[in-house]
Amino acid sequence: MSELSVRHLLGIKYLNPKDLELIFQTADHFKEVLGRAIKKVPSLRDITIANIFFENSTRTRLSFELAEKRLSADVVNFSAAQSSVRKGETLIDTVNNILSMKVDMVVMRHPNPGAGIFLSRHVQAAIVNAGDGAHEHPTQALLDSYSIRERLGGVGGKKVVIVGDILHSRVALSNIFALQMQGAEVRVCGPKTLIPKHVESLGVKVESNLRDALQWCDVANMLRVQNERMDMSYFPSTREYARQFGLNKALLDSLDKEIVIMHPGPINRGVEITSDVADSDHSIILNQVENGVAIRMAVIYLLASKIKQ
Ligand code: CP
Repeated sequence: MSELSVRHLLGIKYLNPKDLELIFQTADHFKEVLGRAIKKVPSLRDITIANIFFENSTRTRLSFELAEKRLSADVVNFSAAQSSVRKGETLIDTVNNILSMKVDMVVMRHPNPGAGIFLSRHVQAAIVNAGDGAHEHPTQALLDSYSIRERLGGVGGKKVVIVGDILHSRVALSNIFALQMQGAEVRVCGPKTLIPKHVESLGVKVESNLRDALQWCDVANMLRVQNERMDMSYFPSTREYARQFGLNKALLDSLDKEIVIMHPGPINRGVEITSDVADSDHSIILNQVENGVAIRMAVIYLLASKIKQ
């Protein structure tokens, strides 16, 4: 029987192409389940999962919780804002206390890059990285690739441009790894100040002109400017940013081909993307959110089968 090569999902860079294919095939099965009248299977009745979030989240937190409940796992939710972390408790103490209540798997979002890796070395549970600072957001990249497959029939050979705040983006890094692993060509586009200095060493070309980048690509993944991670001004004004790197209908219509538009959310309408583009037929933004549940069911199911061994 096929199984993942890893015990934890810490980042796309720890996976191999067979892992990705297994996750996508398993997600196909769960997507069919989610289309049924009864959207639930008993697969994980003996598994308890803690979702621990040290950073804000709408899509990822709800999507993981739904995925876990659709698999019949027992679920506990922990939000740092209302916890004893506020009283000075360490990450390892917090998690070991949760685990002593017989928890098998921890889904964690944390502002520090590598927090999930650190945890996986110190606690006895399967760890799923739900976003660690500007490092990785592996389930987002998996659901993004799955959504491209669904819309375009595959990822191999496709041209994908990631636009915006690449510097602070865990979505960008995980997408670069996932897309390249499947044979896609990736470029990044954004203000020079928001492009990491050594990004080309990842095999990614930098494009400074948005129109040229869009004309080149099959898929444009528009990222949010992450003001909450900025300690200085990276561009003159939001209006200037939107003028140079925002995607609007006129720009989209001026291309001589159709492209697919993606966004991981949350969207800043009128900044990186206008409403008429975000809500257009070119956009697969809500398909991404829908596919997130099937992808997370697949990841949790596959990791849980390794716990049971
Ligand atoms: N895409 C994403 O991670 O969204 P949230 O921050 O709302 O979870």
